[in-house]
Amino acid sequence: MSLLLTNIGELVTQDDAVGIVHDAAVVVDGERIVWVGPAAAAPAADERIDAAGRAVIPGFVDSHAHLVFAGDRAAEFAARMAGESYTGGGIRTTVAATRSAGDDVLHAGAERLVHEMRRQGTTTVEIKSGYGLSVAEEARSLRIAGRLTAETTFLGAHVVPVEYQDRPDDYVALVAGPMLEAAAPHARWIDVFCERGAFDGDQAREILQAGARAGLGLRIHANQLTAGPGVRIAVELGAASADHCTHLSDADVDALAGSDTVATLLPGAEFSTRSPYPDARRLLDAGVVVALATDCNPGSSYTSSMPFCLALGVREMGLSPAEALWAATAGGARALRRDDLGVIRPGARADLVLLDAPSYLHLAYRPGVPLISTVLHDGVPL
Ligand code: NIG
Ligand code: FE
Repeated sequence: MSLLLTNIGELVTQDDAVGIVHDAAVVVDGERIVWVGPAAAAPAADERIDAAGRAVIPGFVDSHAHLVFAGDRAAEFAARMAGESYTGGGIRTTVAATRSAGDDVLHAGAERLVHEMRRQGTTTVEIKSGYGLSVAEEARSLRIAGRLTAETTFLGAHVVPVEYQDRPDDYVALVAGPMLEAAAPHARWIDVFCERGAFDGDQAREILQAGARAGLGLRIHANQLTAGPGVRIAVELGAASADHCTHLSDADVDALAGSDTVATLLPGAEFSTRSPYPDARRLLDAGVVVALATDCNPGSSYTSSMPFCLALGVREMGLSPAEALWAATAGGARALRRDDLGVIRPGARADLVLLDAPSYLHLAYRPGVPLISTVLHDGVPL
């Protein structure tokens, strides 16, 4: 069935830079976009939506989220706002809660967050495991994630679980061996939290290389809390994305600039841990490809809102509104190595967001306001 979305006041195609078309129309057929152009020249279709002069953008691509978990860490957030710092130590709290939750509870929690995201314009979300940290629990988390997205990521190397705390090397061997074997059929990607207190550079490299041998694409939590080796390893191994990138040396920036690795910035984490934001301007000026994502998780960033992250990117990180929108759509698609997402052109997936606003500028200009009107996902209005 075909659908004509017409009378679009401002269409942001992202096809070629921002790519704005005024008085535009889009035709979708099934799950794909089949036509884009001036409304006056649009072909007929089975159904019609009148945008009444409002703006249309590609659906947001949230390329970094941890949605399979149980429990709540609001008290940890409150303690941070009273001056405590974030160390990642609370991850073990969520691991304990997740292990004792039933499949139905984990699935319902993740599905609720995916729906929350959809209502805020997100049409693609990557979902990581990482709160199970045993062979059976990581496979379970990935099976649940796989019911909600094709972009699933094995994060057995999130932290060393308590039962391995005196023998971390045994845990690394478990992750790179039996856990990876159980996870790989359910995962497209592998990720490691490379950080002081989590996994060091050698451990991260060993786990990522094992993942690559098992056919998984690579991503890494890099340089979030300290200036470690994560970004350099990402570039060395050809990872699709280095995520966080908060503490970067000039050499890290140069390495990213000369690579195919996207720098995925997660300002919800800095907001929620009261930390300095990553410098997106420095990265863009050096020629690095930048994506924005939520990092939605119960500890460091419990937001599901891409518009919120986009507004932070503009207000706090030196992005123009156009650069922030690109990073939150086409940038996320690059970070997932997908060329059928984050753009509005014939052949791309029919993931479109109609805003209750005349321009995409309002996403940052009117922060915190529910501007998402209609969301089309795979050609189906929500
Ligand atoms: O991306 N940094 C590691 N992992 C998550 C936080 C997980 C948690 O605190 O539960 C992050 O910020
Ligand atoms: Fe994360």
